[in-house]
Amino acid sequence: MKKILVTGGTGYIGSHTVVELYEAGYTPIIVDNLSNSNIGVLGQIEKITGKKPEFHNFDLCDERKVQDFVSSNPDIEGVIHFAAYKAVGESVEKPLKYYHNNFFSLINLLNAFSAKPVNFVFSSSCTVYGQPDELPVTEAAEVKRAESPYGNTKQIAEEILRESAASNSNFHILSLRYFNPVGAHKSALIGELPLGIPQNLVPFITQTAIGKREKITVYGDDYNTPDGSAIRDYIHVVDLAKAHVAAIQLLEQGGNNKNYDVFNIGTGKGSSVLEVINAFEKATGEKLNYQIGARRSGDIEKVWGDVSKSSKELGWKAELDIEEMMRSAWAWEVYLKDVNPFDTE
Ligand code: NAD
Ligand code: WQD
Repeated sequence: MKKILVTGGTGYIGSHTVVELYEAGYTPIIVDNLSNSNIGVLGQIEKITGKKPEFHNFDLCDERKVQDFVSSNPDIEGVIHFAAYKAVGESVEKPLKYYHNNFFSLINLLNAFSAKPVNFVFSSSCTVYGQPDELPVTEAAEVKRAESPYGNTKQIAEEILRESAASNSNFHILSLRYFNPVGAHKSALIGELPLGIPQNLVPFITQTAIGKREKITVYGDDYNTPDGSAIRDYIHVVDLAKAHVAAIQLLEQGGNNKNYDVFNIGTGKGSSVLEVINAFEKATGEKLNYQIGARRSGDIEKVWGDVSKSSKELGWKAELDIEEMMRSAWAWEVYLKDVNPFDTE
């Protein structure tokens, strides 16, 4: 059983990826400092897979701990690096917090794994494209000046990875540029656990429908889109998790003859905010209390990905549609209300 280190493995995307790694026959090992996740996720993963992952609680910014961990686990063959801070708004208020965490953790890992061959998958984001000039956006599109320190950490991290791979043939690296991950595992035992008031659309929708929030505001209906609301490429988190397994498998087979490459991970299809709300109502039978409001500052108008490279070279494509995303997100919200094994609000 090949061992794969999953940093940030108790987080939203990491926990779903741990499940898919088990399904594909790997042994995931989690490192997470629980700065944005809950220890109870480990038991939930065990309920789904029958296996409780090996877990190490430490901060990847601690260089000594990372070195010691890597030296005492010489049989780790691959790394999927999710651990990072991800709140765009907070990154504008506290840029140093974001640069510190997202860079030191990455650099410590690369240093610790530099002496022997390693397959490395990095969580990047469609945020690197800003508002693309052409849609669907391909991996070859220009990377625009980042709108936030968070976005900048993803752009610079990609450069760090490209340059590291070019300088050291031990590194075999893929950056996955995720579009908008939503939804939850079909068991409803794991999902997104937003702290405080959610900033993202889908958790805000489910929290409103369940009565935690009074109503949701659609940020703008005057965009240059068919219904006036902004468009994104929403991707089911389970499809996204499977893309990481495909990435590890591609690297194991020698990659696509490059030491470094990037892939768009989306569905290739855009949905507007109003379409997402309709899909939620249709998939769940719930009525959503929403109002139209002003645009949110910093938002782009529309983006969706060209996913032909992922389909051809990674051999991966998204399978679950927007209604399934909404159904699973809703089942998770209901589970949190009825059961909540996490001791959270
Ligand atoms: P998340 O916050 O749920 O998971 C990240 C995990 O990393 C958390 O469990 C947190 O405790 C851990 N962590 C953070 N800093 C750490 C450190 N220094 N040491 C150890 N553990 C640490 O986030 P997520 O939504 O699962 O995102 C995972 C990755 O995907 C992030 O890199 C994020 O930037 C990227 N991404 C997310 C989205 C999205 O919309 N969710 C979109 C594009 C890219
Ligand atoms: C989606 C759409 C909102 C809330 C962010 C990060 C990005 C990436 C994914 C990590 C937008 C609208 C939202 C609400 C609304 N993360 N909306 N009412 O902004 O595409 O991307 O998360 O890399 O970097 O910026 O996602 O879910 O916040 O918004 O109308 O209450 O929903 O305006 O059009 P976004 P989101």
